[in-house]
Order: sequence, then C-alpha cells, then structure tokens
Amino acid sequence: MTKGLYIKTYGCQMNVYDSARMADLLAPLGYGDVVRPEAADLIILNTCHIREKASEKVFSELGRLRHFKEQAAADGRRMLLAVAGCVAQAEGEEIVRRAPQVDLVFGPQTYHRLPEMVARATEHGERGLVDTDFPVDSKFDFLPEEHLGDEAAAFLSIQEGCDKFCTFCVVPYTRGAEFSRPVAAVVAEAEKLVARGVCELTLLGQNVNAYHGEGPDGRTWGLGRLLRRLAEIEGLERLRYTTSHPRDVDAELIAAHRDEPKIMPFLHLPVQSGSDRILEAMNRKHTADFYYRVVDQLREARPDLALSSDFIVGFPGERDEDFAATLRLVTDIGFTQAYSFKYSPRPGTPASEISDQVPPEVASERLSILQNLLNEQQIAFNQGCVGRRLPVLLERPGKYEGQLIGRSPYMASVVVEAPSRLMGKLVDVDIQSAHANSLSGTVVTRAPEESPSPEPAGRTPATETRATA
Ligand code: 5AD
Ligand code: SF4
Repeated sequence: MTKGLYIKTYGCQMNVYDSARMADLLAPLGYGDVVRPEAADLIILNTCHIREKASEKVFSELGRLRHFKEQAAADGRRMLLAVAGCVAQAEGEEIVRRAPQVDLVFGPQTYHRLPEMVARATEHGERGLVDTDFPVDSKFDFLPEEHLGDEAAAFLSIQEGCDKFCTFCVVPYTRGAEFSRPVAAVVAEAEKLVARGVCELTLLGQNVNAYHGEGPDGRTWGLGRLLRRLAEIEGLERLRYTTSHPRDVDAELIAAHRDEPKIMPFLHLPVQSGSDRILEAMNRKHTADFYYRVVDQLREARPDLALSSDFIVGFPGERDEDFAATLRLVTDIGFTQAYSFKYSPRPGTPASEISDQVPPEVASERLSILQNLLNEQQIAFNQGCVGRRLPVLLERPGKYEGQLIGRSPYMASVVVEAPSRLMGKLVDVDIQSAHANSLSGTVVTRAPEESPSPEPAGRTPATETRATA
C-alpha cells in the first residue's frame, strides 16, 4: 500500500535537491507524494537556518503540524513527523525536547540513513530519534539512483559545506567542512539526467567554485575543468553553477567561461559589502578591489556576463561611509539581480558577539536605499533585452491558459504564448517587453510555408535529445 509523503522545503536549491533525494530514498519503502500534509503518513520539514528566526519559525510550524498528527492518531493512523536540514543540524536534541511530537531529526549529511530511521520508528515504535553526525563516509555513496521527472532543467549537487567561516554565517557549522564529489560520479549523474531529457544543469554547492573533486586521472579537478568535461555531454545545452565565492574564481574557471558557450553568461557571485573594513570584519578574505578585478577578468572572458550578488547591510560596526562604499560598488559593477538582507545575528557565529550593532531603523533605511538601486539596475537590464532574440528554455506553464514560462541565458523569466508541446524545449524568443521581474516575447517560428506549426529555430530542441538518448 502506498504511504503518503509530504516534504516541505525551505531555503536554498541545495535543500530542493536534498528533498528530491529523500523522496528517492523513501520510494522503495512505499512512500509516494501527497499534496496535503493532513493526508501524509510522513511529513518532513527540510529546513534552512540562514534566515532570521529560522528555528522559531520551524517550532511554530511544528505546533501547527502537531494538530494533524493528533487528528491522524484519532483516525487510527500513525503519522511520523521529521525535521531535516540545517535547523535540525543546529538544534539537534533541542527539537525533540521542545517538540516531543517530532519522531525524527536528521541533518544534511545523514539523510541517506532515512530509510533505517523510518523503519525504526514504524516497526519498533521508536520516537525522538536524532542523527546529526558528520559521518566520515559521504552520503552520496549511499544514495539510490535518482528518480527523474520530465524536467528540462535539473540541479546536480557536486560540492557541500564551506571552510570560509564568514563571521555572520552558519553554513560551516550546519553543513560542515568542504566536500567535493569525484568527477566520475558527477559525470555519471549528469549523463543519466541528460539521457532522460534534461538539457540544462545547475551544479550546486554552498561554495561550488571551491570544487576540488578527484578526477579520473587521479588528480584534483577544479570547477573549470569539470564544466568543460560536462559540456562534452551531447544533448546538454546549458550549464550553470551556484553559489560562488570571489576568492575561488580561478584562471581555469575564467577560461572555461571564455571558451565554453554552454556555460550560461550569468553568475551569482556574492560580495556582501563594498567596504574593505566591513569585508575584513566579515572575514570574507577579499577586498572590494579584488572583487572588481575578478569581475573585470570574467567580463573580459565573457563580455555579456550578467551578475547577481548577495548583500548584507547593517553588519555590526557598519558606518555611513561603509554603506556608501557598497552603493558605489553596486553602481560601478551593475547587477542584473541581487538578494539583499539586513544583518541579523545567528547564535554561535563570531559576529553575533560583536557589541557594535547597527540600530534596526538605520539598517532598514540602508536596506531600502540599496534595494531601490538594485531594482533600478534589474529593470534597466531587462529593458535592455527588449528587441533582442534570446534562447529560452521553456520550463513551466504560465499563469494563463496558452502561456509558458522559461528562462533566458541571464536567468530572467520569459513569458510566451506557446503550445504546451513546446514545454521542455529550447526556443528562440523575440523579446518585446520588460517588467520588473520578467520579460515577455514571441517564439520565433519559421515561415508558414516551411512549417505549419511553430518550431524552434536555430537550436536543437530538447525532445530531439530525448528521442536519441
Ligand atoms: N544575516 C543576514 N544575512 C545573512 N546571510 C547569511 N547569513 C546572514 C546573516 N547572519 C545572507 C548572505 C548569504 C545569503 C545566502 O544569506 O548574504 O550570501
Ligand atoms: Fe557562509 Fe558563503 Fe561565507 Fe561559506 S562563503 S561561510 S557559505 S557566506
């Protein structure tokens, strides 16, 4: 009998990937997706610890779920409640202490043991099981073959953890030390995905360009070399990677951007601040000038490279002149999109112990000034796309009947009128209008006498790839 599985995923793409793998692990135990948590036999909250009050939000969600669990028990069903991800890693035992309705707690490095934990809970009635180790063995060696949908774009996790220890960040504590999967494992997973119709891969890692996997030649390969190898896979059209650190952009990666057209001209490269004093206090290990130089080299290699970034305002000790330096950097570099946050202390991180906190109203004002500037840049970039013909990978249905939404090389969402059979295909689109967060345009069709139906021009559609695989 199928058992209902409901996974709620918070945070980054890494968690999206992990949630999919948890579903793969549980499928042999008879667990299949359900849409409503009330109907589930197992609910997993795959949590994120980056955002403010992350733990408190999880505890309040657990309070809500307790009612579903009680209702299930009243109906004679045992519902299991699990907390996974970075809040699980950070809070561990505290979760079952404060929320005794929780049956399982496991971290990002131990979810491969999920079937065993679920069996212990269901067959032996164990409760409050906590597994937040950082095991010596990589979980990747224990994950089953992934269940693949028919998506044209997929994530592939190649690296985890971080050794950078920025003073505001919990990742080195929740995800652990840097680990890179061997090249052969990454290539094998990529080939499988492409054989099933995926034509865009986004390589994931908390600090993905610190990748240093073991190559088939026994040497350590960096991300640039890995990207070139993946680009050789026939049928794979687009490569992306996220998230990167400026310090780990090396000459090989820059050269890969120059030489390999499958690497999309879009890069998420967090800078956090434009002030050297604050960058130092953040332990970012780079200056503003270093960031400018890295961007210059990347743009020299790939002149149409669009950049995205992360910013923190109101870091302890941030003065007006530091914030002005951030605005200057944004103006000088020009970002296509960006994420900006007000600093908030994370327990256990060095910055949370600095006493010189910026008053919240000052931080809020700075955030809104920065966001206005970033929004203006995003709109200007989108407007610059009007009149251009861009290749777009159509990924999902639009809001209205007859619409599909895809992504441009620069990660902008592009809305088009198109029949659903074009879903999953790479098509050329004439961009006609720009909005704050998206573009819209028309799929380029051949002349009617050539083809009665709209076919993508000039590119190999993904379905051809599927047919030959
Ligand atoms: N306060 C505010 N923003 C943070 N980030 C990480 N930790 C904090 C914090 N303590 C932001 C950084 C990072 C992004 C994922 O989240 O900008 O790059
Ligand atoms: Fe966190 Fe990124 Fe710094 Fe690593 S490089 S500590 S993940 S902000």
